[in-house]
This record gives sequence, C-alpha cells and structure tokens, in this order.
Amino acid sequence: MATTAIIKDFLQQFPSITIALALLVFLLLKKLQKSSPRNPSLPVVPGLPLIGNLLQLKDKKPHQTFTRWAEVYGPIYSIKTGASTVVVLNTTDVAKEAMVTRFPSISTRKLSNALKILTSDKCMVATSDYNEFHKTTKRYILSGFLGANAQKRFRSHRDTMIKNMVRTLHSYTKDKPLQAFNFRNVFENELFGLALKQTLGKDLESPVYVEELGTTLSREEIFEVLVLDPLMGAIDVDWRDFFPYLRWVPNKSLQMKIERMFNRRKAVMKALVGQEKKRIASGEVLNSYVDFLSSEGKTSSEEELNMLIWEPIIETSDTTLVTTEWAMYELAKNKSHQDQLYQEIESVCGSDKVTEENISQLP
Ligand SMILES: *[C@@H]1O[C@H](CO)[C@@H](O)[C@H](O)[C@H]1NC(C)=O
Ligand SMILES: *[C@@H]1O[C@H](CO)[C@@H](O)[C@H](O)[C@H]1NC(C)=O
Ligand SMILES: *[C@@H]1O[C@H](CO)[C@@H](O)[C@H](O)[C@H]1NC(C)=O
Ligand SMILES: *[C@@H]1O[C@H](CO)[C@@H](O)[C@H](O)[C@H]1NC(C)=O
Repeated sequence: MATTAIIKDFLQQFPSITIALALLVFLLLKKLQKSSPRNPSLPVVPGLPLIGNLLQLKDKKPHQTFTRWAEVYGPIYSIKTGASTVVVLNTTDVAKEAMVTRFPSISTRKLSNALKILTSDKCMVATSDYNEFHKTTKRYILSGFLGANAQKRFRSHRDTMIKNMVRTLHSYTKDKPLQAFNFRNVFENELFGLALKQTLGKDLESPVYVEELGTTLSREEIFEVLVLDPLMGAIDVDWRDFFPYLRWVPNKSLQMKIERMFNRRKAVMKALVGQEKKRIASGEVLNSYVDFLSSEGKTSSEEELNMLIWEPIIETSDTTLVTTEWAMYELAKNKSHQDQLYQEIESVCGSDKVTEENISQLP
C-alpha cells in the first residue's frame, strides 16, 4: 500500500485526525537531526538549490513520491522543502522510534501559516506541541470522548447512526436499484450528526442564529463553516511557508480568506456552545463532551473550550468519512471481496445484524 508509515502511525495514535492535517503537519515537521547531533547522517534526496525538492512534490499525492524515494533511499531520508529540512519516515518502526521512543526530539510542530491560524495557534490535541496543554487536552479527549468508557456512553448514538445509514441504503437500493449511488452523502450527513450528538448532546434540528455574523445558518451551512472550509484552508499550501525568510511578502487575499474562515468558525462555535452552556446552566444534563468539559471546569478560556469541542467535530466528520468511503470504493471494485466479506459476517452472525460486540469475533 502506497502510504507513508508516519501517517499511519499518526492515525493510530489519533484515530480521528484528518488526513489533510496529518499530511501537512508531517510535511512541515521540525528538523529531526539538528536536535540530536549523535545520530548518523541521513541519505539526502538530491534537489535544486534554493527550492530543494519542492518541484518533485508538486503533485497533490506526495505519498507516492515518498514511496518511490523510499525504494531508493531506504526507510528514513531527508529532503528539502525550500528553506526547511524535512525528514521522511517510511516504516512503522522508524516512525515509532522518532515519535514515541525519542519523542522529545520532535516535541514541537512547525505549522503552515494557514494551519497556525486555523488551529488557533495549535489549540488542538492533533497539532499541539508536547507540553502541559497537550497532556491535559489529551486526557480530556480520552476520558470524555475516545476512551473505552466514553465510547460506551456514546454507544446508542453510534447504533442510531448505523440504523439510519442502513435504512437509507436499503430504501435506495429498493427504489433505484440500477442508479449510481454516492455513498458520501449518506456517510457525511450521519457522521456530522454523530459528531454533533457526541460533542453538543444533540443534532441540529433547526437553523441556528449566529449572533456575531448577524445571520441564521442552516445545518449544511454550519457543516461548511466547521468542516469543509477549514479543510480547504488547511491544504491551501502557501509558498511562503517553505521560505520563512520571505514571510514578510504580503498576500492579502490568502490571509483574508483564512482569517474569514477562522472568524466564521469561531462565531459558529460560539453560538453552538453558547446554546449548550445555557442548557447546562439551566440544570439540563446531556451525555456529551461539552457537558464533560463543563463538569471538569478547568479549561481556561471560552475560545479554548470552543476549540476543544470543534476538534472532534471536524475529525469525526472528515477522517472517518474519507476512510469509510475509501473502504466502500475498494469493496465496490471487487465482487469477490464483497462475497468474502458477506461469508465472514454470515459465518459469525448468521442472519442477525452485526453489532459492536461481534466485531472481535470476525476474522
Ligand atoms: C516504505 O517503502 C517501501 C518501498 O521501499 C514500500 O514498499 C513500503 O510499503 C513503505 N511503507 C511501509 C509502511 O513500510
Ligand atoms: C496569494 O494567495 C493566493 C491563494 O492561495 C494565490 O493564488 C496567489 O498566487 C498568491 N499570491 C502571491 C503573490 O503569492
Ligand atoms: C479481486 O481480488 C482478487 C483477490 O485479491 C483478485 O484475484 C481479483 O483479480 C480482483 N478482481 C478485480 C476485478 O479486481
Ligand atoms: C453478537 O452480538 C450480540 C449482542 O450485540 C450478541 O447477542 C450475539 O450473541 C453476538 N454474536 C456472536 C456470534 O458473538
């Protein structure tokens, strides 16, 4: 499989981080060799003066280029993206060594300007440096969202999501059996709903008035502001990021675009979380991340709280969507794989529905 191990490793540590973020964070990872001079020198992929290997990475599928280089230079090598040196880790072993065993040596992340703005200066578990903030928020995410107990509390939301998806798929195959079908619409809608239930306690049933924007936004518009726009912003790589000494060269249009995304996201989160804070203050408790964080009561500012709640929303809505869609695409291409999957499920569950308890039994 043509993927770099570091991304896989990263995804295993934070199953819900968005691929786009992971890729960028990875591309811009801080120099590795500098901080530990004892390490042997690395193979260097030859590039051009000044711009280094940037031209070789121009396509939007850098993982393929990385894999080709790994065939020549081995599992760890260094490249230059403009003025920055980047170390590429291609196997799980070297990724683990760098990011787990020796992790203090890459305890800070270098982000693109756009990501710096969109992550509120690293105010996310996925992009944070390894510091007190990272420790605390990772603990919140584990006990309030991703850990086994939190996942148990959210079980009914997941069951409802699966039920809805299956119902939609069944009715579609019944009504329009021969028409092409876009899985994304179903997954996207349901995963966003799951994200909202888990973070805020409920899905959005009606449009939301966003005071700071002076307007009312529909659920789709909110999805755009919270998920689609920031992802577009995150992959919008600016050449200034590769030449820090040219950062002073202004690019008003880009800057304004990213700042507009940031402000709209902030305004919408404020409106959404504001509603839930009122609910919590009135004594109504729901099973959600915002309820959990409020009961912990330790997050320092309103903005930080809103960022902590936004993070799982974008990660649930995008990463899981892309992974699911990719798996369905692979399955759709190969009838014998579909048959095999069907046999496997039938051999464990018979004609019963598959449940989460059954997953460990499946081959
Ligand atoms: C690393 O690079 C090689 C190419 O030499 C590739 O076959 C392999 O799948 C890559 N990834 C991992 C995780 O080893
Ligand atoms: C500014 O950013 C926009 C959007 O990314 C880009 O199309 C444009 O070329 C940039 N301008 C300069 C001078 O870099
Ligand atoms: C499906 O997968 C099987 C086994 O991996 C392979 O032999 C077969 O050629 C594939 N069929 C298609 C249509 O790709
Ligand atoms: C599958 O899970 C259900 C509970 O969700 C359980 O009743 C059933 O026995 C399980 N089947 C197998 C084969 O483990």
